[in-house]
Amino acid sequence: APRVFSGIQPTGIPHLGNYLGALQSWVKLQDEFSSVLYSIVDLHSITVPQDPRSLRESILDMTACLLACGIDPEKSVLFQQSQVPEHAELGWVLGCLTSMPRIRHLPQWKIKSQTQKSEGSVGLFTYPVLQTADILLYKSTHVPVGDDQLQHLELTQDTARIFNHRYGQFFPIPKTLTTTSKKIHSLRDPSAKMSKSDPQKLATVRLTDSPDEISLKFRKAVTDFTSEVTYDPEGRPGVSNLVAIHSAVTGLTPEDVVEQSRGLETAQYKLVVAEAVIEKLTPIRGEIQRLRADEGFLRVVLNQGAVRAREVAAPVYDAVCRLVGFR
Ligand code: TYM
Repeated sequence: APRVFSGIQPTGIPHLGNYLGALQSWVKLQDEFSSVLYSIVDLHSITVPQDPRSLRESILDMTACLLACGIDPEKSVLFQQSQVPEHAELGWVLGCLTSMPRIRHLPQWKIKSQTQKSEGSVGLFTYPVLQTADILLYKSTHVPVGDDQLQHLELTQDTARIFNHRYGQFFPIPKTLTTTSKKIHSLRDPSAKMSKSDPQKLATVRLTDSPDEISLKFRKAVTDFTSEVTYDPEGRPGVSNLVAIHSAVTGLTPEDVVEQSRGLETAQYKLVVAEAVIEKLTPIRGEIQRLRADEGFLRVVLNQGAVRAREVAAPVYDAVCRLVGFR
């Protein structure tokens, strides 16, 4: 049966890249599929050091943000990964089917193990195996993610095939779903993706930014010396990133957005995009503040989500145990 699964790390307030690359489509998929699960992947977040108190806060922040974006606990199972122990258990089994060279070149390890002070933990290295377990634990068929996760999804597909080959047909091969705005770039460096951990404050627009902050960030966005608005991601990455954002928040195609903006200088265009983003984010920001004030409610949502997730996960993991020979 078709089933959607995706995850997001609780490492701060989600940004425009998370929202336009993933969360916006998560919301839509709730109405297109009858079984949908979204996980706040706290096990993944500790692959790099996290302060326990901030992690606790970030899990609740993320819950409020996802609900504010339109994730409806009646339509989808919203849960915290660590509350479903089968993720780690299946991760072990799948890790035993994954070769070291297969995961050595995946981006999370390559990038983060270089930027960490230490050499990088075993957990960071095996991160993609845990991600594979997240997806296969629910026999998921569709996984909506941004562009940066494609290699992890290929690993998931390979691992499902390896498992099926060794133990008999069991896991469906999950399909990757990306949106047209699958990669949103930093506002300060159009060659980098927008990221939660960017040290440059003006690079990243968060869902809780005030209208003034959003305007400032777009006004300071790095473009080039041509003043016309065109869409050419290769040749003009800066202004094309603005067009991509504008298109994703309005639902228009990049071509329509460019057509509408004919005659504007990039400096003026930045204000137009800022306004469109503010219009989109203002109601979400209000909802985040309202929901975040009610921690009791957020915990109830997560606890109920975990119960429902386990109802799906436990029989799958039990079957894996039988296939592998544990029972
Ligand atoms: P995470 O927490 O980094 O990001 C969550 C989602 O946001 C997308 N995304 C972007 N999309 C477009 N432009 C950007 N600049 C941008 N930055 C982030 C990501 O592609 C992702 O869809 N490993 C995952 C979490 C994960 C997961 C899973 C996802 C764990 N288990 C199972 C799917 C299925 C991650 O670190 O996402």
